Amino acid sequence: MINSSQLDGVALVVGSGRGIGKESAFSLAEAGASAVIFADMNEEWAKESSEESKKYATNKGYRTATFKMNVQDDQSVQDMVDFVVKEFGRLDYAVNGAGIDNGPHADIADTDIANFDRVMSINARGNLLCVRAQAAAMRAQTPKMWTSRNGTRDIGRGVIVNVASANSFAGLPGKGCYTISKHAAMGVTKMAGLDHSAEGIRVLAVCPTWVRTPLLDVELARNPEVKGQIAAVVPIKRAAECEEVSDVISFLCSPAASYINGTSLLIDAAVTTTLRLY
Ligand SMILES: NC(=O)c1ccc[n+]([C@@H]2O[C@H](COP(=O)([O-])OP(=O)(O)OC[C@H]3O[C@@H](n4cnc5c(N)ncnc54)[C@H](O)[C@@H]3O)[C@@H](O)[C@H]2O)c1
Repeated sequence: MINSSQLDGVALVVGSGRGIGKESAFSLAEAGASAVIFADMNEEWAKESSEESKKYATNKGYRTATFKMNVQDDQSVQDMVDFVVKEFGRLDYAVNGAGIDNGPHADIADTDIANFDRVMSINARGNLLCVRAQAAAMRAQTPKMWTSRNGTRDIGRGVIVNVASANSFAGLPGKGCYTISKHAAMGVTKMAGLDHSAEGIRVLAVCPTWVRTPLLDVELARNPEVKGQIAAVVPIKRAAECEEVSDVISFLCSPAASYINGTSLLIDAAVTTTLRLY
């Protein structure tokens, strides 16, 4: 590991009960975070993940906690951030991984507005609520310095990474609600990165295509043809492993990425470079 990709601060991962959020929390613990707080609407999953993280943590003083919350509820989001600052002193890295899929596929002309509101309230509004509360907490704390072989530099007050999607840039037929919500999450990322850059807060997104999460495993068990469909569309011929996303998130939080802000990393094995998906 290069020295500057190590972490040492307090991490909050929203949606860390399962899937990409859970693996992100593990990657942060492995990279040296001093504490990881597992926030999720499913308290049982969060507790199991928090306990498991102790196996991977490399910081000798590692601490972990859980917080039950819902990204749709602004008070619950604020309470979560207040809890982290009160119990752990500051918030260095925040990862926003809570999100849902499209629901029933439909062309735009057939959009079910109740479904659209549901997806937007979690993936877009929920993301904004999290970033808003996290950035407000980060700007109240002192910046950190990093010393490398070439001297010492200011690496800012905190880093926020949103788990967006390749659908933040490209569509998939029938996935309008999800695609619009993930474009919005990219908008949150750009605007928050821009507005808070001078305060030393970096806001970024990772944008994966298919990732091997528990949900995808269920789908593959139900319909083995999905594996072939992914292989047909993805140039690397397979879905990403969770770690192939979560380790990138850890890198983006680290001093190695201290000049990257308001943008995203596509983790799509070049899917979005193709003009023809089928
Ligand atoms: N899995 C993929 O292939 C893939 C690809 C691209 C982007 N993504 C994005 O990654 C993120 C995570 O996806 P995943 O596949 O790991 O999902 P997942 O369902 O496995 O995990 C999501 C976690 O978020 C929690 N959560 C859901 N709604 C919440 C809410 N309202 N408040 C608090 N917690 C909530 C869930 O309890 C769960 O623990 C999502 O935003 C998704 O859109 C996933």
